[in-house]
Amino acid sequence: MDKVSIAVFASGTGSNARHLIELERANALHPAHVAVLVSDQPECQAVAFARLANIPVWAKKHKEAGGKEAFERAVVSFLQEHDVRLVVLAGYMRLVGSVLLDAYEGRMINLHPSLLPAFKGLDAIGQALDAGIQQTGVTVHYVTAGLDDGPVIAQTPVAIKPTDTKETLSARIHEAEHELLSEVVRTVCLLLKENEEK
Ligand code: GRF
Repeated sequence: MDKVSIAVFASGTGSNARHLIELERANALHPAHVAVLVSDQPECQAVAFARLANIPVWAKKHKEAGGKEAFERAVVSFLQEHDVRLVVLAGYMRLVGSVLLDAYEGRMINLHPSLLPAFKGLDAIGQALDAGIQQTGVTVHYVTAGLDDGPVIAQTPVAIKPTDTKETLSARIHEAEHELLSEVVRTVCLLLKENEEK
């Protein structure tokens, strides 16, 4: 069975990108293949890890690329060169613009550290802690033009303990993210394959 090439977009630590890459190395991401990594932060850890793993990287700041539209046009060409069929935003800290959306809407998913629609935007983990609730979670959803909007694909709840700090809660959120994102990537890639074979 052919693999489905995916692009992982990341702007920071890249623990989710790394998890996907490591799963593929262990033959546990089938039918997905991490073909490329894209970043708007050339110095970030996600880029460094992908380079070490010999994954082709496209990384530039928007300013270096000539602005957001030019950045996205160059990225779309890069993705097409590598036959990318699914874009996975995993800690990509930019709102996607119309150039990328036009090329990949319906084939672009985002990971967010809350049970959307609760706590959209930045610092979702801090927002959940400040709200004094007992449960938050993680979401993977299709990307649309709105911030952390778009149809939800899957969610995992994560309990908030009374003793939790941002650090302890973030650690459990990340574990849940690694599990959920890899499961969704495998499933969405299978669906893409099935649809293409019909
Ligand atoms: C994750 O919590 C993700 O939900 C959010 O950014 C974080 C990225 O983490 N969008 P990492 O860079 O994969 O470690």
